[in-house]
Amino acid sequence: MDVLTAINSRASAIRLTEPGPNPEQLKTILTAATHAPDHGRLSPWRFVVLDGPDREILGKAMVDMRLREAPETPAADAEREGLKAMRAPTIVVVAARTTAPSKVPEIERIVAVGAATQNMFLAAHALGLGAMWKTGDAAYDEKVKATLGLDPSDKVVAFLYLGTPASPGTPRETKLEDFVISK
Ligand SMILES: Cc1cc2nc3c(=O)[nH]c(=O)nc-3n(C[C@H](O)[C@H](O)[C@H](O)COP(=O)(O)O)c2cc1C
Repeated sequence: MDVLTAINSRASAIRLTEPGPNPEQLKTILTAATHAPDHGRLSPWRFVVLDGPDREILGKAMVDMRLREAPETPAADAEREGLKAMRAPTIVVVAARTTAPSKVPEIERIVAVGAATQNMFLAAHALGLGAMWKTGDAAYDEKVKATLGLDPSDKVVAFLYLGTPASPGTPRETKLEDFVISK
């Protein structure tokens, strides 16, 4: 698939199923991430791959987060939160580590990790896989980050869910005139 076709036909999958990316595909996807534009070549991206049973690490952390925030949450609702981690065979947690000494502003480092995430999405799409880019409260929770082995100062940019599209999404129609500001 050429790059323009990949960009213009990309959409979030509505439902993902097995199989997830195989090790070679995962390597291709992670390598694509590391080719994103990145001011100062600081490589601010960090990845935590949760495959198969490892997804329960995130699922349990999500349940614990919900019960910590709202202890009155019914157990079934808290469990439902944790099941989000099971909606794809593989999750790549994509984080920005913005602490390397440099004058490059933090926002630029985070944006670089956003670009890396898009590269991953496009690589997955080009490989015939589906993806969903999610964040939510868990992305900003210190304890969830610690459970994933991330530093408190790391910024989670994406939970990138990867798998086989059981129900693919529809690429959106865009109206350029809504976004191009005329002089
Ligand atoms: C930084 C970021 C965080 C997002 N977080 C969520 C999320 O938590 N839940 C969600 O449903 N969509 C989230 N989205 C949006 C979807 O991933 C998706 O891109 C959007 O719904 C548009 O659909 P499309 O990807 O099919 O064009 C996020 C997107 C970005 C860029």
